[in-house]
Amino acid sequence: MSKLSVYNLTAGYDKADVVSNVSLEVMDGKITCLLGANGAGKTTLIRTILGLNNIRSGRVALNGVDISTLATHDIASEGVTCVPEGRRVFGKMTVLENLQAGAFLEGDSKVVMLRLKQVYDFFPKLQERSHQLAGTMSGGEQAMLTIGRSLMSNPSLMIFDEPSLGLSPLFVKENFRIIRDINEKGITVLLVEQNVRQTLEIAHFGYVLSQGKIVASGSVDSLKNNSELRAAYFGSA
Ligand SMILES: Nc1ncnc2c1ncn2[C@@H]1O[C@H](COP(=O)(O)OP(=O)(O)O)[C@@H](O)[C@H]1O
Ligand SMILES: [Mg+2]
Repeated sequence: MSKLSVYNLTAGYDKADVVSNVSLEVMDGKITCLLGANGAGKTTLIRTILGLNNIRSGRVALNGVDISTLATHDIASEGVTCVPEGRRVFGKMTVLENLQAGAFLEGDSKVVMLRLKQVYDFFPKLQERSHQLAGTMSGGEQAMLTIGRSLMSNPSLMIFDEPSLGLSPLFVKENFRIIRDINEKGITVLLVEQNVRQTLEIAHFGYVLSQGKIVASGSVDSLKNNSELRAAYFGSA
């Protein structure tokens, strides 16, 4: 079953279309990746799905229900969360306050405490650092915190926008392991990445966006065997 469906979506800024006629499906319970070079339109596509950019044509459905006209906070309350590009933590707030901010839609403090415990079980380091100011943590720790903050909303769909960008090789590996673990907990993932090799190690299905258009799609195995992709991303035909 399809968790998220995008149909013939066109969106952009000012007069220019940045993504045009994009269709894709994110299967329930799976990791679907969206690969593409810098400037391909990946973030624009995500922002449009989340209601942060206007849809020029096409539509978006969640669990088969049209969400094209919903506001961003209403999409969030349907269980969709995004770990944004560039790890934006609230630097002057503590780790704990950052995590609590992720659960702002939940009014029941007992439920928030329960989620906090789950996030701490997942990231023991965040518990150790709960009273530290987020801005004083390392890049890798801030990456963990943004993922933890997203988990605090109890999502059913997590969209990651280039989570490995700028991380040290050790944290990149850890980051992909975390995403796989999150998916194994039953959360559907849309993973936007430029790190093709490691993304194809954990994803089930994939799409390739080039200059705002989907140029390849399919199972990860079929993408690995796609000769154009091999030439473009793996340096071999
Ligand atoms: N806020 C904006 N206003 C105008 N143009 C933008 C804006 N954000 C991105 N763009 C343009 O849209 C294109 C795609 O950008 P983006 O969606 O960020 O790509 P990606 O995430 O794949 O690197 C780029 O040409 C970029 O310059
Ligand atoms: Mg981007």
